Amino acid sequence: MIEIRNIKKSFGDKTILYDISATMQAGKCNLIIGASGSGKTVLTKCMVGLFTPDSGDILYNGESMLQMPEEERKQLRQKIGMLFQGSALFDSMTVEQNVMFPLDMFSGLSYREKKKKVNEVLDRVNLKEANKKYPAEISGGMKKRVGIARAIVLNPKYLFCDEPNSGLDPQTSLLIDKLIKEITTEYKITTIVVTHDMNSVMEIGDYILFMHKGYKQWEGSNKEIIYSKDEKLNEFIFASEFLQDAKQMRMLEDSEKKK
Ligand SMILES: Nc1ncnc2c1ncn2[C@@H]1O[C@H](COP(=O)(O)OP(=O)(O)OP(=O)(O)O)[C@@H](O)[C@H]1O
Ligand SMILES: [Mg+2]
Repeated sequence: MIEIRNIKKSFGDKTILYDISATMQAGKCNLIIGASGSGKTVLTKCMVGLFTPDSGDILYNGESMLQMPEEERKQLRQKIGMLFQGSALFDSMTVEQNVMFPLDMFSGLSYREKKKKVNEVLDRVNLKEANKKYPAEISGGMKKRVGIARAIVLNPKYLFCDEPNSGLDPQTSLLIDKLIKEITTEYKITTIVVTHDMNSVMEIGDYILFMHKGYKQWEGSNKEIIYSKDEKLNEFIFASEFLQDAKQMRMLEDSEKKK
C-alpha cells in the first residue's frame, strides 16, 4: 500500500500540487488520470522520490519514504519498477541486454542466472524470439513489452507505468493493459498507471485518482465512474457527445432494471 498524505509541490511561485491525499491499493491497478498539465507526472515523481514535495508525506507500507535513512530509501527504490513514457530503451543494446541491465546493476547474479531470469520475464510478456533484436527493429507495442519486462526483472513490489499506451493502436493498448493487470495480480505488485486512455480506465482501473489543475478532483473505481455526478470528471471521461449519450443510456437502462 502507498499512502500519499497532504502532498504540496510548487515550482517557483507556481503551485502544481495542492494538498493531495490518496491511498494506492496493494496488489491492485491504481490509475492516475487527468488532463495534460494537471500534475500527474509531478505527483508520480514525488511518489518515487525523484521530486521532494514541499510538504506532506509518502508512506510505503506505513514507512515514510521522506523520513527514512538514505540506505533504506535506496533499498525501497530497488523495489520500484518503472515503465517510462516512450519505453526509454537503450538503442545500442539488444532486447536481452536492455532487460538484463537492472540485473547487471543491482543483482550480483552469475551470467547464467541472469540469462535465465531475462528469458523468464521475456517469456512472460510473450516476447521469446526478440532477444537479439535492437529496439529500432521492433514495433512500438513490442518496445512496451520490453519496457515491462525490464521493469519487472528485479521482482518489484511496486510498478509505475507512465502513459503505457501512448502511441499504440486501441487493440495493442488493450493487450498491454491486460498484461499490466495480469502481472499485477500474478506477482502481487502494487501498480500505478498514469494514463489518458479511456479504455484503460474502464478495463483495469481498480482505483482511479482524477486530477484537475493540481487538485484531487475525484477518486473511485471503474464501476463507480459510470455513475459519478462529478461534472469535471464527466467532461474529461465522456468528452464526446457520443459517450455522454452512451452514459445517459446506461444509467436509464440500469434504473429501468431496478424498477
Ligand atoms: N521540473 C519542472 N519545473 C517546473 N515546472 C514543472 C516541472 N515539471 C512539471 N512542471 C509543471 O507542472 C505542471 C504539471 O505537469 P505534469 O507533467 O505533472 O503534467 P501531466 O498531468 O503529467 O501532463 P501530461 O498529461 O501532459 O503528461 C505543468 O504546468 C508543468 O509545466
Ligand atoms: Mg505526464
